[in-house]
Amino acid sequence: MQICLRPFVNNCASSLMEKRKVLITGASKGLGLAIAKRLAAEYTLVLHASRAESFTENIPGANILCADLSDGAQLAEFCKKLKSEHADDLYAVINNAGVTYDRPLLYQPEREIDAMLSINLKAPVMICKTVMKIFIQKKHGVIINMSSCVGESGNAFQSVYAATKAGLVALSKSLAREASAISMDSHIRVLSVAPGFIETGMTASIPETEKQKYLGMIPSNRFGTADDVAETIAFLLSDKASYINGSNIQVNGGLL
Ligand SMILES: NC(=O)c1ccc[n+]([C@@H]2O[C@H](COP(=O)([O-])OP(=O)(O)OC[C@H]3O[C@@H](n4cnc5c(N)ncnc54)[C@H](OP(=O)(O)O)[C@@H]3O)[C@@H](O)[C@H]2O)c1
Repeated sequence: MQICLRPFVNNCASSLMEKRKVLITGASKGLGLAIAKRLAAEYTLVLHASRAESFTENIPGANILCADLSDGAQLAEFCKKLKSEHADDLYAVINNAGVTYDRPLLYQPEREIDAMLSINLKAPVMICKTVMKIFIQKKHGVIINMSSCVGESGNAFQSVYAATKAGLVALSKSLAREASAISMDSHIRVLSVAPGFIETGMTASIPETEKQKYLGMIPSNRFGTADDVAETIAFLLSDKASYINGSNIQVNGGLL
């Protein structure tokens, strides 16, 4: 009884006394920015982008922690600072930063392959490693990794991107099991979210004919908005989602 109550008391205490702290990577625009705006009233935020100049909108009260996640040294420094500056009250991490370079693998330069592997997969792995240590000590915490529908379906001209997104699904499921294996009485949840076609800068350059092709495959008859994803994240972070763990949550309008 005592074992189960401890994390519950911690959660109640933190919500009564102070706001829970959430790190969002890639929060300068697109999905990350929409998530930051949605969570701003309820949580203390640590917002990340590749550099401070990337932020064009101010979220009052937010901490800013920048790093180019394609650079191993900057990633290591980012994880160090995350631990030294935010470990005490960190409640959750949204690994959202990501890039795609769409072209046939045959013609994909190695630097693009390396960038996608580093930013989309290695960085979340290292950030998960850093925060798992913190969460296992505290016995609670939430990690949400931003995957993609193509992580499950695959997609022509997105082979490496899709591979990184599939990797995040497997990483999340594995870490959910690992947290429980290491600390059976912990309340650590690790999830992935797989958006479909969402209108952001990342999808803006897709040719109109291609867009119409995708639209025909979406039963909801519209592209998703960043707010659709932000609402899902807000729910998954909340205590109402306390039994959702290890899952890959699709936000795709039924994309077939
Ligand atoms: N949009 C969609 O339809 C869709 C669908 C499925 C999954 N997703 C996933 O959702 C996430 C967000 O996508 P989005 O559409 O919001 O993309 P976006 O508008 O292009 O934003 C990408 C974010 O990632 C950051 N980032 C890019 N390169 C970085 C680097 N080298 N180091 C550190 N940060 C870097 C950017 O920061 P800077 O501004 O500093 O570059 C920016 O904040 C991605 O992981 C993407 O794969 C998107």
